[in-house]
Amino acid sequence: MRTEVAIVGAGPAGLLLAHLLDRAGIESVVVETRSQEYVASRIRAGILEQSSVDVLTAAGLGDRLRAEGHEHRGVYLQWPGGRHHLDFVDLTGRSVWVYGQTEVQKDLVRAHGGPVVYEVTDTALHDLTTDHPYVTYTDRDGVGRRLDAAVIAGCDGSFGPSRAAVPQSARQVYERTYPYSWLGVLADVAPSTDELIYAWHPDGFALHSMRSPTVSRLYLQVPNGTDPQTWPDERVWSELAKRLGHGQDGWTLTPGPITEKSVLPMRSLVQTPMRHGRLFLAGDAAHIVPPTGAKGLNLAIADVARLAPALTALLRGNGSARAERYSDDALARVWRCTHFSWWMTTMLHATSDPFDAQLQLSQLRWVTSSRAGATGLAENYAGLPL
Ligand code: DHB
Repeated sequence: MRTEVAIVGAGPAGLLLAHLLDRAGIESVVVETRSQEYVASRIRAGILEQSSVDVLTAAGLGDRLRAEGHEHRGVYLQWPGGRHHLDFVDLTGRSVWVYGQTEVQKDLVRAHGGPVVYEVTDTALHDLTTDHPYVTYTDRDGVGRRLDAAVIAGCDGSFGPSRAAVPQSARQVYERTYPYSWLGVLADVAPSTDELIYAWHPDGFALHSMRSPTVSRLYLQVPNGTDPQTWPDERVWSELAKRLGHGQDGWTLTPGPITEKSVLPMRSLVQTPMRHGRLFLAGDAAHIVPPTGAKGLNLAIADVARLAPALTALLRGNGSARAERYSDDALARVWRCTHFSWWMTTMLHATSDPFDAQLQLSQLRWVTSSRAGATGLAENYAGLPL
């Protein structure tokens, strides 16, 4: 089979790229190791920054987002003794939207009519530094296939074959692991807050997020290697109540049936460059951020918004300048978000060191009392313009 762009990975990065290329008249074929149902149902973050909303809207994907998503002006930051609202709209003129990645994925699956081959195995990338790269894979009937393309887009996450297809001598990997994880739960209960609450607590960070007026999403800092089985529902709710300040200033946390529970590891990773010959990396294939601040999906959307016009120009004979600049341009935003995610993470998570705790509290007091401090957080959280 031959196409113009072979896309490895049918998550939001791969499908959005396929959709944007399609709108520009460029053909693509997407290959994906998982089933369509699996990709559509995995639970991920739920916050879209302003520029992501703009990209999705311009791509014709904004209708359900605007009808069913919820615009938030800001977030609450708290620590024992006080809750403080940061109003991003007031501080920066930009807002964020609560709209789950699962919903973005559904919209993309519905909108993209081009070929997506699910449940492939043994995906491998070849001849990346020639002008005839190709992808090989085994389809779900066990038949070996070859997909020839002008370029390959690696949108297959940090464990997919694309990132590893760049020879070690041609790549640099920057990495940070964290000594804690998140226990995430989804619950069929109305959120107990109008906007997200990020809570510092000596026993560990907690986050109250949401998916809809009837579904709450909550997280607790837990030690690495935690087995979710050791967290029965009652323990989850009582720990959330303590860390989120149930009973303080008349605020209450309403518990409800938990429908999903899982442990998420946290790490930062950036692989540079984001281009190797005719392979272009986008999204988690090139970078991972810890979840605090919800930048993962937004960064993937920002990469793709840059990559689609660069590939369009390259393949339509309108010059290779944008493609040449893709890696450097994308990495500027990637490093900004990598810093922001690291900063939010290290500001909010308890460590065993009392010195850390005092610095964190000092930073939180500054961010919530200084307009300059608050604006810095707001600019990054609501997202810098693309
Ligand atoms: C969510 C996840 C985050 O990491 C975050 O910072 C905010 C919200 C969420 O899943 O809703």
